[in-house]
Amino acid sequence: SLPVPSVQALVAATGGDDVPLRYLRPEAAAEAVTSDGDGDGEAQIPIIDHQRLLLELDHGGEESARLHRACQDWGFFQLVNHSVPDDVVESMKANIQQFFQLPAETKKRFAQEQGQLEGYGQLFVVSEDQKLDWADMLFLYTQPPEMRNTKFWPDQPATFRSALDRYSGAVKDVSDSLLATMAKNLGLKREAIADKCIRGMQKVRINYYPPCAQAEKVVGLSPHSDANLLTLVLQVNHVQGLQIKRNGSWLPVKPVSGAFVVNIGDMFEVLTNGRYRSIEHRAVVHPKEERLSIAAFQFPNIDTMIGPLKEMTGHEDDAYKTLDLESFMKIFFATKLEGKNFLEQMKLN
Ligand code: SIN
Ligand code: FE2
Repeated sequence: SLPVPSVQALVAATGGDDVPLRYLRPEAAAEAVTSDGDGDGEAQIPIIDHQRLLLELDHGGEESARLHRACQDWGFFQLVNHSVPDDVVESMKANIQQFFQLPAETKKRFAQEQGQLEGYGQLFVVSEDQKLDWADMLFLYTQPPEMRNTKFWPDQPATFRSALDRYSGAVKDVSDSLLATMAKNLGLKREAIADKCIRGMQKVRINYYPPCAQAEKVVGLSPHSDANLLTLVLQVNHVQGLQIKRNGSWLPVKPVSGAFVVNIGDMFEVLTNGRYRSIEHRAVVHPKEERLSIAAFQFPNIDTMIGPLKEMTGHEDDAYKTLDLESFMKIFFATKLEGKNFLEQMKLN
């Protein structure tokens, strides 16, 4: 990643009225957005109750069936009534908000280093003339614990590290439990996915989207799909901004307070030979208010092969290549930087 200025610092320095050219993308920002009342009466992503899923784990049931349809038809759902304790969520939110309020000099102590993704900064900046996202972020490897690079973990506020440690573990547990229901829904043995996630990796991206006086001409987070298995996103404040591609237009997600917005990533689409869908999404920004979110990306074990599961394909052909995780990620980043669709590159014809 090339070093670029913090958007938050830019807004602080200019009062936010002056938006540099590198951020202006009026055509991209103006792509069609589904408005309230459009669509087929099923305009929002499904809402799934985690406690009901847990009750149904051994025998299946209505909620599990709804989860299966959400993964097939939407690739996105909101998880309410989840098992992450309120105090863990609230403490994480408070620490994130306080971190981004720290002076720029303090935040810079945790800045990304040349050629690395982890730390405070921006993702995927490769050229001087590339259009930039209207956001800052803090990207950290969180699981398994031995993958942590604590030099990038803020020591201010003083509770940041312990809050993220607890949050990270609790979110991993929720993810494992969702994967167990999903395996069952797919007719797989529980171990078919669980074995791939015993030392499953987790990376966390904390997003800070400053307000923008020309919000309709910038993009907070460029359109992308997630490479990993499963992503759990928590909205930190009340400002919404996440949009998913649905029927050719951008559908704004209306987060339920305290819920996780969960989505299927590319690896899961590949494992299921395309049954579960990894959907393109983006984030837009607000003209007056800052927006914060925290995305936890769940990956399998580092030594896992990613390809269509034999139990999934049966008599049908593999629709995707099989790669080790490292190659998968290499190709993911390479195609992303070329602006190509990664899953298209993964498809076998
Ligand atoms: C994402 O991680 O793709 C979206 C996060 C957000 O809602 O800001
Ligand atoms: Fe994403």
